[in-house]
Amino acid sequence: MTDRTDDWDPDAYDDDTGFVHEYGGAVVDLLDPRPGEAVLDLGCGTGHLTAEIADRVDESRGATSEGPEVPQTMRTGGSGAREQTTGSATDGRTESARYEASREAGTAVGVDASPEMVERARETYSDPRFEVADAREFDAEEPFDAVFSNAALHWIPGDDQPAVAERVAAALAPGGRFVAELGGTGNVAAIVDATVAELRERGYEAENPWYFPTVGEHAATLEAAGFEVRLARLFDRPTELEGGESGLANWLDVFGDSLFAPLADDERAAVVSAVEDRLRQTLFDAATETWTVDYRRLRFVAVRA
Ligand code: BEZ
Repeated sequence: MTDRTDDWDPDAYDDDTGFVHEYGGAVVDLLDPRPGEAVLDLGCGTGHLTAEIADRVDESRGATSEGPEVPQTMRTGGSGAREQTTGSATDGRTESARYEASREAGTAVGVDASPEMVERARETYSDPRFEVADAREFDAEEPFDAVFSNAALHWIPGDDQPAVAERVAAALAPGGRFVAELGGTGNVAAIVDATVAELRERGYEAENPWYFPTVGEHAATLEAAGFEVRLARLFDRPTELEGGESGLANWLDVFGDSLFAPLADDERAAVVSAVEDRLRQTLFDAATETWTVDYRRLRFVAVRA
């Protein structure tokens, strides 16, 4: 789930960090979407994995060049074809989206907090449906069979994770599954440590802005929301960046807004350069001119009781 404090550039996101959805294919496999299922993709970004899920739940997709029509029963509440409520919503939520999932044809719906990402997903795919929604506040009118999330939950502060788990549980039918991957404890620690050290040396207060839980922490949150955790796994996934010498700077450009929040543009460039110097020894292979990021993933399957 992309966070509103970050200035999202869908072009840079797709061009420089395409590995996010490429690696996400394994999480889709873990989800194992089946024909006829209704699946919500929480934090869909530019929508590539939502489209992959849609292909698997609706086998008629791709039968024509345009793909099938979105079922009429798919809507976001109210009497209109789509309804997106923001601001002072009648149910008291600051922002909510209501979804009715078709039970006849399989459906996938992608939601993201970033309007820029949702706009790009809609431009790329006329189907499935994409909506702007906040993972802490969304509503589903009809239950989904599964909720999926890849590389999104770590953008939401730890204090808000119980609300997310509670909204996901409410969106699922009994027995429905929540299958997700996020950064786990120690994720991108070298980058965070180097950046925080550099910022502190320059007199700024700085800390890890992301939610990277342990298995135990996140499992407890899921259980408190009524989930049974069937699988939870923390593993290293060192990831080579494209872009040669510029790979790390590109990564920081796409993802680093919350890390560099207090900085003006010129000082941000100086800090990025200093962070590169701090990390060159450990994360850069001069022979292949490749930066490798120290990703650690937390992957889980949880079933609503
Ligand atoms: C991640 O996918 O693990 C991640 C991406 C950007 C910032 C922090 C973590």
